[in-house]
Amino acid sequence: MIPLIAAPMAGVTDKPFRQMIRHFGLHTLYTEMIAVESLRRNHPATRKMMDIWDEENIIIQFVGINQDSFIAALPLAEEVGAVGIDINMGCPVKKLISNGSGSALLKTPDVAARLVEAVKKNTRLPVSVKMRIGWDTEHINGVSFAKTLESAGADKIMVHARTKSEGYAGIPHYDTVSEIKENLHIPVFVNGNITDLKSLKNALDITGADGALIGRGLLGKPWLLSEIETGKKPIFNLADIALQHFELLMNYYGKHGLFIARKHLAWYMKGQKNVAEFCQRVYAEENADKVRQLIQQYLGGNA
Ligand SMILES: Cc1cc2nc3c(=O)[nH]c(=O)nc-3n(C[C@H](O)[C@H](O)[C@H](O)COP(=O)(O)O)c2cc1C
Repeated sequence: MIPLIAAPMAGVTDKPFRQMIRHFGLHTLYTEMIAVESLRRNHPATRKMMDIWDEENIIIQFVGINQDSFIAALPLAEEVGAVGIDINMGCPVKKLISNGSGSALLKTPDVAARLVEAVKKNTRLPVSVKMRIGWDTEHINGVSFAKTLESAGADKIMVHARTKSEGYAGIPHYDTVSEIKENLHIPVFVNGNITDLKSLKNALDITGADGALIGRGLLGKPWLLSEIETGKKPIFNLADIALQHFELLMNYYGKHGLFIARKHLAWYMKGQKNVAEFCQRVYAEENADKVRQLIQQYLGGNA
């Protein structure tokens, strides 16, 4: 089976979510993107994102623009046991674009290349880049950009098959990923709209990619990578899974876990009966025990 990786998702692929995916298999998982600048300033929430020391097969994704801040972050990534470093060159968020990081790097291939060189020189870990195919459909430079990164020393390229301007919507341009794959010697992974075995096969058939990253398909479905690999959905009770996730969030974040849990619970409920009613009640609830009861009631099929 071709390697499947859980894609980085800020606000989603935190430790509790990774632990949920881990229940179902030993896949490679990403952290959320971690801002090297905040890490350098020892920002507590950013520092907490580096907490992977007791996990296996974790790629740490860094985002930023300052080479020294990247270099400062690398020893810590090694110390906590990351299996790889990934550089974010795809995030479309304004705050990142405005300082030249994330997908803004698609416009400055020389800066991107120097960043890859600096990171490569300062770590023994494999270095990948997660990129998009270009800034917008008028400026699709994915092939030349990826070749530049390869020459700079990148070990692997992860391609979200969309432009920055397309955000997360529309049909992914797998044809460009196929061109990237044809032009590179290092492994190329495809990403975008892969949610099951059929869509995975389609993406791989078109691109010839060496592996795939799955993002949103995992929301409310931490078993998905395992389901695709084995060809069957693991047997479990959905309320038990949601409760486990809820407990992990509460343990990890304390009371704030209750707020983080809301979106995950809504994702678990997707496709079930009474979704709107469940979400309304969960979003209004500030008592953890009451939330536990609602999970049992609605996801245990008793609503
Ligand atoms: C909520 C959310 C957060 C994301 N955060 C990140 C991130 O931190 N780093 C990154 O490289 N991509 C991030 N992405 C993009 C995903 O990794 C992925 O490239 C994109 O969702 C397309 O894949 P999909 O169709 O399988 O979801 C994020 C996407 C979503 C929906």
